Amino acid sequence: MRFFPCSFSWLLVMSKIARLEKLNAFKLNLFSTTSSSLCSAAGPVLCSEFINAGADTSLTTLQWIMANIVKHPHIQAKLFAEIKAVVGEGAEEIKEEDVQKMTYLKAVILETLRIHPPSTFLVPHAVSEDAELLGYRVPKDTTVNFVISLMGRDPKEWENPMEFRPERLLNRGENGEPDRVSDVTAYKMMPFGSGRRLCPGKRLALLNLEYFVSNLVWNFEWKPVDREGVDLSVKEVFLMVVKNPLRAHVHVSKNQMKA
Ligand code: HEM
Repeated sequence: MRFFPCSFSWLLVMSKIARLEKLNAFKLNLFSTTSSSLCSAAGPVLCSEFINAGADTSLTTLQWIMANIVKHPHIQAKLFAEIKAVVGEGAEEIKEEDVQKMTYLKAVILETLRIHPPSTFLVPHAVSEDAELLGYRVPKDTTVNFVISLMGRDPKEWENPMEFRPERLLNRGENGEPDRVSDVTAYKMMPFGSGRRLCPGKRLALLNLEYFVSNLVWNFEWKPVDREGVDLSVKEVFLMVVKNPLRAHVHVSKNQMKA
């Protein structure tokens, strides 16, 4: 049995274990010289914006996901079973193509983002023409701030909103079809925003999270540190982060010991 304090730096070490660089999604070439490419001045600016907007949001979300998985052992077990059903017993690593077949994994990630979107607000949006909404006149150029952290916890929209239940985001497959992620994830919650200003890194972020989480659950069994449990209190810095970083016992999974 090994004990790890689960801190930011530790998660970064884990990222190396997960061999992130293998993801095809990272094979971007912003400096290509073909006629349709970005100019060399735009490349560094875009790189910097992507790193600023993509690193902390993804890492914060990963912490929330792992905290919820450690807190809910039956969810960890269900996730492990789904991974096993897709890759079989001996697999060493869960690959990009494998995670596409893991619907419950996607639901766990989205359920985390429903309750714990890393950002409270979207970036401010503005109304491009006079509009009326629920009887209110909204004049052109009004700044609109969406409080996405409350949307996912709205008791009018979500039954028992603070309960972590990924199943609520799944539509049962009929006639032997696999389960599907429900459409409600596209309009009843918006952790990545919506419309034309939607986070451009959404697909990359979800793919990274699916890759990390599946490998962390496949390779290790996670348990809360005795008596302490898992504290899901929020601390608001720029993002909504885990106030007291997760501390967990981590065992190499039985599956890996056999391999
Ligand atoms: C879990 C991870 C992430 C979350 C929850 C997230 C969430 C968001 C949100 C809420 C916005 C504002 C959208 C709006 O106002 O409508 C945004 C914008 C943005 N995101 Fe993400 N994001 C994540 C990961 C990433 C990644 C990995 C990248 C890039 C690699 C990225 C790049 C950006 C950029 C460049 C913008 C600004 C877009 C604009 O100005 O129109 N994000 N993100």
